[in-house]
Formats: sequence, structure tokens, C-alpha cells
Amino acid sequence: MSDDIDNKSSNQMWGGRFASGPAAIMEEINASIDYDRRLFAQDIEGSIAHATMLADCHIISASDRDKIIHGLNTIRSEIEAGGFSFSRKLEDIHMNVEARLADLIGAAAGRLHTARSRNDQVALDFRMWVRAEAAKTVAALKGLIAALLVRAEEHAKTVMPGFTHLQTAQPVTFGHHCMAYVEMFGRDLSRMRDCLARMDECPLGAAALAGTGFAIDRHQTATALGFSTPTRNSIDTVSDRDFALEFMAAAAICATHLSRLAEEIVIWSTPQFGFVRLSDAFSTGSSIMPQKKNPDAAELVRAKTGRINGNLIALLTVMKGLPLAYSKDMQEDKEAVFDAAESLELALAAMTGMISDLVVDEKAMKKAAGSGFSTATDLADWLVRELGVPFREAHHITGRAVALAEEKRTALERLDLADLQSIHGGITEAVFDVLTVAKSAASRKSFGGTAPQEVRRQIRYWKKKLEKDG
Ligand code: ARG
Repeated sequence: MSDDIDNKSSNQMWGGRFASGPAAIMEEINASIDYDRRLFAQDIEGSIAHATMLADCHIISASDRDKIIHGLNTIRSEIEAGGFSFSRKLEDIHMNVEARLADLIGAAAGRLHTARSRNDQVALDFRMWVRAEAAKTVAALKGLIAALLVRAEEHAKTVMPGFTHLQTAQPVTFGHHCMAYVEMFGRDLSRMRDCLARMDECPLGAAALAGTGFAIDRHQTATALGFSTPTRNSIDTVSDRDFALEFMAAAAICATHLSRLAEEIVIWSTPQFGFVRLSDAFSTGSSIMPQKKNPDAAELVRAKTGRINGNLIALLTVMKGLPLAYSKDMQEDKEAVFDAAESLELALAAMTGMISDLVVDEKAMKKAAGSGFSTATDLADWLVRELGVPFREAHHITGRAVALAEEKRTALERLDLADLQSIHGGITEAVFDVLTVAKSAASRKSFGGTAPQEVRRQIRYWKKKLEKDG
């Protein structure tokens, strides 16, 4: 077979798959308008600020500025009304808007792109979108924390088993458990705020990568667009997507927390645990098993974490090999962030609803708290405190008491005093005082501990903090 025939046949195969030829494929891979149209509001806001600044700096005339701004406002209304026809031939939101502007106002439209490139334009639009989304996440996190604080306050004294290895460990309060999640979501809140603070620099005016020869005022556009300052280095500006990565990293950690809480809700709502009942609003029935009530919302919150974590990895991978400055690879930044933001928003809302609605079965929690010899540590601590037994030895004595209770198929606090004394002669009636789950929990008054008064102190701390931080 000659080379000639070989080439022909491979071309034929390729041509058969793509009837309309290479140009169509280029359009397919190159166009981002199908998704970046979501940036239209930011694109128009950025262009209005840019045109205003260009006129103030005498780079374009006041009358061109007015035409441009009027045209951009018209385009915004058209898009909002659903009457705008987006074209893939025009690749992206920036060129779709600019082309329509030319239709509407003619030659003046061509002056808008002075001292600007799509590279700084997209960096601006996308940053503003992420900024708004991070602010929404902050608000949603505050809502979730508030819902958890309500439940924690209600259940500051409700005893439940605390677990390690998902094995009964020591009695804790449900309020304490809720406050553990407040700490986690509190850190998420602070991470979101950190990333908002770091993205508070305006990319506009970096132009393609090197800045511009026009005497623009980057401080003016930064202020107009709600940024504290312009970015300092134009090369970095057009090649930086840290704001998106940080948002997604914070989102991924938050989603991981949501997933853990969702997992607990799934476990707690099983008939075997029966700690909580989900409201009908956040569960579904089975089409075949009439008795079932499934925790679908919790399961979906748990599952959304996969998408959010995946999106972070996707963008990290896009960015990791890029030389400075802009490369078209960076167009692939948007869908991952859109999806992560949407998924997180939904998961936060669903979790807030579930937490507010779930019915806690205090009796079931208390009963479970007493199983599995959960007050064994309290017995050991009592031996240390009251009889001066070294902890290691107390641990050993308690182990024997647990074995005895196990043998007699009873609970620690149900053993006879004589039984306990057969293990250690010094034990007195007073020991029974620490063996109930409520007393066990109430005794853990160390800073951050599970005692109701400590839980209430944690609640007060968070309420004050949320008030202070806004
Ligand atoms: N649609 C592009 C993106 O999202 C806009 C920037 C294009 N810049 C360029 N030099 N081709 O990244």
C-alpha cells in the first residue's frame, strides 16, 4: 500500500464523521457562547465603566460614550427579555455584545474596545461573577449556621451517644454535635470571605497582557466596578484564575462538610438509629415499599460533593501547565465554576431546610446514649478522682467492670455495688452518681466540652461573632 492510498482512506473516515468539514469543528470547539452568555450582565457593566473612563480620559468623545452606554443598556434589556439572538459564529459573550452594539449604534461601537482586550475583559467578567457567587455563599452559610444554632439551643441538654469509629464512645449532647458543624461551616464562611478579600482587585486595563499605551485610569474603573484597587501586574492579571480556584477550593471543603452532615442524617434517620425524623418536604417514598421514607435530599447533598470536588480538580488541571500569559485553555474555566457554584448553592439550601425541619427523637437518642457502656470513662475518672487510683490502673479496673456487666447482660449503672466492690473494694454508692448518661455529659465542663453550660457558651460565642462580623 502506498502512502497516498493510506492518507486518502484516513481522510475519508474523518470526513464521514464530520460532514461539514474542519471549519465547523473549529467553531464547535472554539465557541463558548453556549455557557459564557451567563456573564452578560458583568460584561455590560464592565463595558459601561470602561467607556465612561475612556471619555473621562479624553480617549473617546462624550457623544460616543453616550451612544455606547445607551446601546449597552438596550442589549441588556434584550438579553433579559430573552429576545437576544446569540451567535456561535461570534464565539463568546464579548463579541456577541460588541457585534450587536455595532448593529445598534454603528461606528461608535468600534471605539469601545480601545485600550482593552478580551483577555482583561473576560478576567473581569468572570471575577465579578465569582465575586457575586462567593457573596451569595457567605449569605447561605450564615443561614445554615443560624439554623444549626437554633437546634443547638433547643438541644443543649439532649443526650445522645458520641461516636468514634462509629462505635459508641461517650455521651454527648445533640447541641454539642450541632455546634461541631457550626465550627466547620464557620471556617467555610471565613474561607469564603478570605477569597473575596483576595479577589478584590480589578483586572480591567491589563489589556492583552502588557498594559496599554493609552492614558487610561485603572483606578477609576476599579472603583466604578466595586473593587478596592486595580491589579498590579498586567501579565499576571490575564493569566490568573486563582480567584476561581480559591472559590472552588472553599466550595469543595464546604461541600465535604455538608456531605458529612448529610451522611449523619442518613444514618440517624434509619429505623435502626431513629434519632431524627425528616420532614416530608425533604424525603421521598418508595414506589414499591410503602413503609419507606428515604432521605433523598441528604443523599443528594452528599453526592453533590463529587461534582464540586471534581470541578476543582478540573480547573487545577487546566491551569497547571500554562505558560504566561493568556492561553485559550483558560476558556475552560467557566463551566466548572458555574457547576460548582450552582451545586453548592443547592446543597446549602437543602441542608438548611433539612436542619430546620428535622424532628429530633430525644428518647431514642438518650436510650442509645446509654448503650455500649458509654459511661465507662466516667467510672475510670471517678476511681482516679475519688480513690486516687492512677488512670492506667483505673482503666484496667473499669475494663473488668465492663466485662462483668457484659457477662451479666446489663448496663454498668445496673451492676450491684457488691459486684463493683468485688473488682475494687474502695468503690462506694456514690459511684452511681456519675454512671448515668446525663450526669456524664453534664460533668464534661472543660472548655469546648459537651456539658450543656459549655454548649451554651459556644452558642453565645457564635451569635456574638455573627452579629459583629455582619
Ligand atoms: N472566550 C474567551 C475566554 O473565555 C475570551 C478571551 C479570548 N481571548 C483570546 N485571546 N482569544 O477565555
